[in-house]
Amino acid sequence: MVYFLMFLLLLSIPLCKTDDQLTLGKPIFPSEMLISKGGIFALGFFPPANFSNSLYVGVWFHNIPQRTVVWVANRDNPITTPSSATLAITNSSGMVLSDSQGHILWTTKISVTGASAVLLDTGNFVLRLPNGTDIWQSFDHPTDTILAGMMFLMSYKSEIIGRLTAWRSHDDPSTGDFSFSLDPSSDLQGMTWNGTKPYCRNGVRTSVTVSGAQYPSNSSLFMYQTLIDSGNKLYYSYTVSDSSIYTRLTLDSTGTMMFLSWDNSSSSWMLIFQRPAAGSCEVYGSCGPFGYCDFTGAVPACRCLDGFEPVDPSISQSGCRRKEELRCGEGGHRFVSLPDMKVPDKFLQIRNRSFDQCAAECSSNCSCKAYAYANLSSGGTMADPSRCLVWTGELVDSEKKASLGENLYLRLAEPPVGKKNRLLKIVVPITVCMLLLTCIVLTWICKHRGKQNKEIQKRLMLEYPGTSNELGGENVKFPFISFGDIVAATDNFCESNLLGRGGFGKVYKRFPIYIDDNMKGILEGGTEVAVKRLNEGSGQGIEEFRNEVVLIAKLQHRNLVRLLGCCIHEDEKLLIYEYLPNKSLDAFLFDATRKYVLDWPTRFKIIKGIAKGLLYLHQDSRLTIIHRDLKASNILLDTEMNPKISDFGIARIFHGNQQQANTTRVVGTYGYMSPEYVLGGAFSVKSDTYSFGVLLLEIVSGLKISSSKLTPNFFSLTAYAWRLWKDGNATELLDKFFVDSYPLHEAFRCIHVGLLCVQDHPNDRPSMSSVVFMLENESTLLPAPKQPVYFEMKNHGTQEATEESVYSVNTMSTTTLEGR
Ligand SMILES: *[C@@H]1O[C@H](CO)[C@@H](O)[C@H](O)[C@H]1NC(C)=O
Ligand SMILES: *[C@@H]1O[C@H](CO)[C@@H](O)[C@H](O)[C@H]1NC(C)=O
Ligand SMILES: *[C@@H]1O[C@H](CO)[C@@H](O)[C@H](O)[C@H]1NC(C)=O
Ligand SMILES: *[C@@H]1O[C@H](CO)[C@@H](O)[C@H](O)[C@H]1NC(C)=O
Ligand SMILES: *[C@@H]1O[C@H](CO)[C@@H](O)[C@H](O)[C@H]1NC(C)=O
Ligand SMILES: *[C@@H]1O[C@H](CO)[C@@H](O)[C@H](O)[C@H]1NC(C)=O
Ligand SMILES: *[C@@H]1O[C@H](CO)[C@@H](O)[C@H](O)[C@H]1NC(C)=O
Ligand SMILES: *[C@@H]1O[C@H](CO)[C@@H](O)[C@H](O)[C@H]1NC(C)=O
Ligand SMILES: *[C@@H]1O[C@H](CO)[C@@H](O)[C@H](O)[C@H]1NC(C)=O
Repeated sequence: MVYFLMFLLLLSIPLCKTDDQLTLGKPIFPSEMLISKGGIFALGFFPPANFSNSLYVGVWFHNIPQRTVVWVANRDNPITTPSSATLAITNSSGMVLSDSQGHILWTTKISVTGASAVLLDTGNFVLRLPNGTDIWQSFDHPTDTILAGMMFLMSYKSEIIGRLTAWRSHDDPSTGDFSFSLDPSSDLQGMTWNGTKPYCRNGVRTSVTVSGAQYPSNSSLFMYQTLIDSGNKLYYSYTVSDSSIYTRLTLDSTGTMMFLSWDNSSSSWMLIFQRPAAGSCEVYGSCGPFGYCDFTGAVPACRCLDGFEPVDPSISQSGCRRKEELRCGEGGHRFVSLPDMKVPDKFLQIRNRSFDQCAAECSSNCSCKAYAYANLSSGGTMADPSRCLVWTGELVDSEKKASLGENLYLRLAEPPVGKKNRLLKIVVPITVCMLLLTCIVLTWICKHRGKQNKEIQKRLMLEYPGTSNELGGENVKFPFISFGDIVAATDNFCESNLLGRGGFGKVYKRFPIYIDDNMKGILEGGTEVAVKRLNEGSGQGIEEFRNEVVLIAKLQHRNLVRLLGCCIHEDEKLLIYEYLPNKSLDAFLFDATRKYVLDWPTRFKIIKGIAKGLLYLHQDSRLTIIHRDLKASNILLDTEMNPKISDFGIARIFHGNQQQANTTRVVGTYGYMSPEYVLGGAFSVKSDTYSFGVLLLEIVSGLKISSSKLTPNFFSLTAYAWRLWKDGNATELLDKFFVDSYPLHEAFRCIHVGLLCVQDHPNDRPSMSSVVFMLENESTLLPAPKQPVYFEMKNHGTQEATEESVYSVNTMSTTTLEGR
């Protein structure tokens, strides 16, 4: 009783300490707390409920009225005698939480001398040596919450490490029944567990790096989710495009994984998404064997897979059975493809298979009931990116959700051949005869009306608005503008209006064009646009070109220049873009008089914008577009100096939609091209990462990639940057113009990221999702970059790159670069 009164007394004392550090000899007591530098997080002692007589040490958001605890140190060892409990730094065990009787309730168990503990603005509580090395961090020991920027280590050498464990109840932080981790039977999926039983399953991974944009769909906020696979270690992490917004990913005490965002106006946590979805059949196995949870209707409901019927229509858990039994060996079978599925659980993964091999594998083995296939690598750099899954038993826990899922191929019996057969015997020959007859008649007509008709058909084809559904589902009206109109308005492509040239053609003209409500191009007055006249030799048919252009026109991102229309006329192919009155980045960056516009915050904004635009092209657009000619002159700036990538998708128009390939046409700009591309013509998303790294170094330094102004010992900016970085002289690399006026840690971080991007080996370079992540999160530890040796050794005596030194067509046999 005495304790209890003292306890209440203690809680009524205002919490006073406002330091962000815990140091040797200065413990904190229950009446005190640490507050991170920016005042975002607090660490201290808290009672989980108003009249609880236990105390816990934890971290919570400091600035918001509701105490929201995101980390607990002693969840299973509460302080019950609070009078003289302390959290202290010791020489022998690092951080120690002990009560008045000297019982140790929690410790970091790391013996060091001279360490101190700091609460950071990210919510991370770290134990730090005097020389700045962190030897322990709360982010490595999460309880039930993942915070933005936290690297959640899911597995190490295929062994499951990371586990979120829910509170026992909303006012009891002790270890609850629900937890979340990778599935021990396959690291391709995450699972929420109720004790040891599956409670809710995430979908099976279809790529190495997931990158989502989930937020209220009409707000400008994005959540980026990333899986980072660094060889042995698999991390999960997320970031939000506006880092000033408080967010958390929490497994609550009822087993629901929730992503929440603090809404300042309503002063409450706003739910962005949750799993299992409220009131749905998303809980593991809810729909029984061979059933699935269908999200495509108004309310989620259980249904049977195609070819199956309910065992008991009134009970969904009893699942479904085949309408027609499979008979192995006799009778036929067929595979039906079910789109948009979260594929079932309890699969076997067969390594190193192409799609066809995977299909054959399943088809040839009677016990295989279904298969699904994905290619985990979009960059083509994994040893075995194939993900062939087969099922031999019951299919449980599937879902159907528009746009999220993948195809499941399901084995069904061939429909019975009985009475229908006789009918078929009559119907088929008649149909065939009629078809033949029609064909003959049509051919005859076609031959006769030959030329005339061709003209009409061509016209129809060109003016037919694009209606491909591959991207959004909605019909996008897309203007095809007549060549005559363009010629008239451009004085027949008069040189005086030339804006620039690139690897794939000339950015030819700007002229005013008016696009009316019917999306038909009309000249004179209206919006100004830029026109790109493509080089000949794309080797593509008109229809293919048209489809590509319509697809690319649907890519919309604030960091991409918009494609507004196109024109096809005989061999001429023209693209019409939005016109940006500010010039391209190079016109500012390398110009002594315009440079002043680019202060550090602007440069940093430009760097992040380019990274996001590129990430969208690589991943989020679903097309996987490799730019292949990223450089300062291809970055246009709008009136607010937001970067917009131009010329994207041109490579795709020229080369079809391969994602990783070897080519004998090396197209690009010298200095921006990665070693593997220059040497072997191999390109992938990692070649773009390389170009991005070069561009980043240029932006930070204000130097051109192969500027001869570098000191005589260095032939390229990458070698120069590496040397300065290695020797600890990175400040020398920074553009003198902004060095004095801004804190430099962001710029140093950019150099570090830039050096990671220009590493010689594509596998060493980070994907653009990691790059965005590293730029957005100052707390992320970056790996040390390897020395980029290739260009350092090579460039003796080669020409200096200028804007004109574009390798438009260079067959490998005549490449002008020196051999190895
Ligand atoms: C705890 O106390 C606060 C403030 O006194 C009150 O707003 C809140 O409703 C109480 N909570 C419970 C669970 O009683
Ligand atoms: C911890 O170690 C430091 C340096 O060795 C020493 O000065 C200090 O007295 C030690 N403190 C305790 C409490 O043992
Ligand atoms: C800091 O000190 C620790 C041990 O004293 C050492 O292991 C570590 O390498 C040091 N780190 C740096 C960056 O000097
Ligand atoms: C979790 O498992 C326990 C024990 O098996 C069970 O009683 C409880 O209903 C389960 N909870 C949920 C939400 O399924
Ligand atoms: C999003 O759209 C809904 C319905 O169209 C609207 O009610 C809501 O205010 C919008 N929210 C924002 C942030 O624009
Ligand atoms: C929320 O609003 C208050 C005042 O309206 C402001 O002081 C505070 O900084 C805001 N917090 C966040 C996280 O935006
Ligand atoms: C994958 O299979 C091919 C033949 O299909 C074989 O040549 C190759 O060595 C295999 N790769 C791995 C990593 O097992
Ligand atoms: C068919 O698949 C099952 C399960 O994977 C396997 O045990 C069996 O050996 C396979 N049979 C043949 C003939 O490959
Ligand atoms: C996976 O995709 C990459 C890049 O598109 C491609 O190089 C690779 O051949 C594909 N692998 C399989 C097994 O399909």
